[in-house]
Amino acid sequence: MDAATTLALSVRGLRKRYGRATALDGVDLDVGPGQLVGLLGPNGAGKSTLTKIACGLVRPSDGEVRVAGHAAGSAGARAATGYLAELFRFPGWATADEVLELHQRLARSPGGEGERAELLDRVGLAEARHRRVAAMSKGMQQRLGIAQALVGAPSLVLLDEPTSALDPAGRRLVRDLLVDLRSRGIAVLLNSHLLGEVEQVCDHVAIIARGRTVARGTPGELTTSGGVEIETEAGVQRFPEAARDDVPDLVARLVAEGRRIYGVRVVHGTLEEAYLEAVGEQPS
Ligand SMILES: Nc1ncnc2c1ncn2[C@@H]1O[C@H](COP(=O)(O)OP(=O)(O)OP(=O)(O)O)[C@@H](O)[C@H]1O
Ligand SMILES: [Mg+2]
Repeated sequence: MDAATTLALSVRGLRKRYGRATALDGVDLDVGPGQLVGLLGPNGAGKSTLTKIACGLVRPSDGEVRVAGHAAGSAGARAATGYLAELFRFPGWATADEVLELHQRLARSPGGEGERAELLDRVGLAEARHRRVAAMSKGMQQRLGIAQALVGAPSLVLLDEPTSALDPAGRRLVRDLLVDLRSRGIAVLLNSHLLGEVEQVCDHVAIIARGRTVARGTPGELTTSGGVEIETEAGVQRFPEAARDDVPDLVARLVAEGRRIYGVRVVHGTLEEAYLEAVGEQPS
């Protein structure tokens, strides 16, 4: 078995053209089993396009996308995937329970009432089980959408901006839910513009811009760009170009120069700074 077959999602050389417009221009991305990967990028970067290709809604122009070893869009890939679209609308007349029941039928999930009750509970909608969608707030509908994506116990969950309508408590609930999914070995690809949220929960981050990957790594790797500060008896000395790996040499040099060291700090930038630098935009 080659490595790509064991990945929850493997994207290789992915290109997508809509007529003369190029949405994706050669993107590679891996999501390992149980990995929580954040996909970031400006409006129009191609995040939703990549997600739709992964769940088989859009056909790629070129490249290879596999879900749990199956070609994207195949029955095997679809069975392994849960998806919450960026712009979704459930029928207003359906109750929360009915929406999940419909998706259980679509996903051929044998989970029955037990699965529906558990999923509604996990997104904080246990009390709203018989409430109609039309009578739900936007945030409740979004949480119902997340529950829907988990119907049928997928091994890969694709969430396209799942917290855009949520209040702080709802965001916390979803963050905890994502961490819980990871602990159950379920892989998640999370499209988001909420950099703080991505920084908090994601194992890995890919930033795309103009259809290409412009940065990737762990949030820690992407944000260790602020230099090193060393406190000596003469005050705090700043080494803006230095990174964590430079600390032993810097300290040895200062000690050799007769300095007394009281503290060392590797300065982390924020993911927002790393993002803006990667996509080539200045904060306004
Ligand atoms: N069905 C379509 N037909 C033509 N062009 C499309 C279509 N869908 C997307 N595009 C174009 O492809 C590019 C990528 O769009 P996409 O929706 O994937 O971006 P995104 O990164 O999800 O943006 P956002 O952050 O605004 O959701 C954009 O230039 C968009 O206009
Ligand atoms: Mg989008």
